[in-house]
Amino acid sequence: MRLTDCHNFHDFRELARRRLPGPIFNYIDGAADDEVTCRRNTASFEQCDLVPHVLRGVESVDLSVTVMGQKLAVPFYCSPTALQRLFHHQGERAVAAAAARCGTMFGVSSLGTVGLEELRHAWDTPQVYQFYFHKDRGLNRAMMQRAKEAGVEVMMLTVDSITGGNRERDLRTGFSIPFRLTLGGLWQFASKPAWGLNYLTHERFRLPQLDEFVDMGGGAMSIGRYFTEMLDPTMDWDDVAEMVRLWDGQFCLKGVMSVDDAKRAADIGCTGIVLSNHGGRQLDGSRSAFDQLAEVVDAVGHRLDVMMDGGVQRGTHVLKALSLGAKAVGLGRYYLYPLAAAGQPGVERALDKLRDEVLRGMKLMGCTSVDQLTRDCVRFR
Ligand code: LAC
Repeated sequence: MRLTDCHNFHDFRELARRRLPGPIFNYIDGAADDEVTCRRNTASFEQCDLVPHVLRGVESVDLSVTVMGQKLAVPFYCSPTALQRLFHHQGERAVAAAAARCGTMFGVSSLGTVGLEELRHAWDTPQVYQFYFHKDRGLNRAMMQRAKEAGVEVMMLTVDSITGGNRERDLRTGFSIPFRLTLGGLWQFASKPAWGLNYLTHERFRLPQLDEFVDMGGGAMSIGRYFTEMLDPTMDWDDVAEMVRLWDGQFCLKGVMSVDDAKRAADIGCTGIVLSNHGGRQLDGSRSAFDQLAEVVDAVGHRLDVMMDGGVQRGTHVLKALSLGAKAVGLGRYYLYPLAAAGQPGVERALDKLRDEVLRGMKLMGCTSVDQLTRDCVRFR
């Protein structure tokens, strides 16, 4: 199976599965508890149908949107995700390059493996910095200052990870950063020598957003332990209000799900929220962002930009979310499998496919611009 055989999410996922050591594939692919929410995220798009309009003249279609003050050529962006150089040695460099080529925004994680400054200098497409709130307030201020100085456009605070999700696949494989392997896991690494060779012959694995500030112990740290030991479980609305003031720019909360919280986000001056359940990786059994979208947009859509992520695999999923009022849609696994499968050309191919699907879908819907996607374009069964 080669990259040219990949035509959709499932193909990229399969190619990634063949290339990655089991523990790494399962870290990306897995979710919390019984992974119900993860499955539900995609399934929820299938509970509603698109209602096209015809005979409208759709020769030229404008896919651009403005979100969080950023003009994007397409209504989707690459959400921040952790540890990308573990999936492919090009890591964040590949994702940033592909996002820039597509004219969209990309996120850099606090747990990213390439420095945010390097990416900021390399590309002028909008950059989001994903932030975790650490117990050490000085560290939080220093991290924000660093992002500000680098010229990051959007600050995105993750609020759904106040403690680590129960990722049972990772418990079984012993997945941790960098590595602490069970014997079974070790065998899985040994069975993917091409990945191992690549990993060992490229720049040493680092977490440059954090290693200046945090001693990752030189050894292994599980994602669950990082969340539980380093992040501040007392974080509340007052803390975030202070961060919003300090940042003094585009500030968005990722992982808001309720109408009440969406209103509070607007009250403290956030300019955006991302409805998200973290790809089903945190609270299993929580509702899908898509199912919450309409009521949140109705409540706060006039006060801040509402985005969503979770389970997006198709252009028609993007169209449905936009029809309910999302300003843009975030991608996670959708670009991570292509990254793992083929690096930059993989991510480029995946984003091109999605853009083509959105474009084709817009034409078939009879829409020439994103603002024409409205509530009467979708119907729930
Ligand atoms: C995860 C965190 C790191 O989902 O975002 O694994």
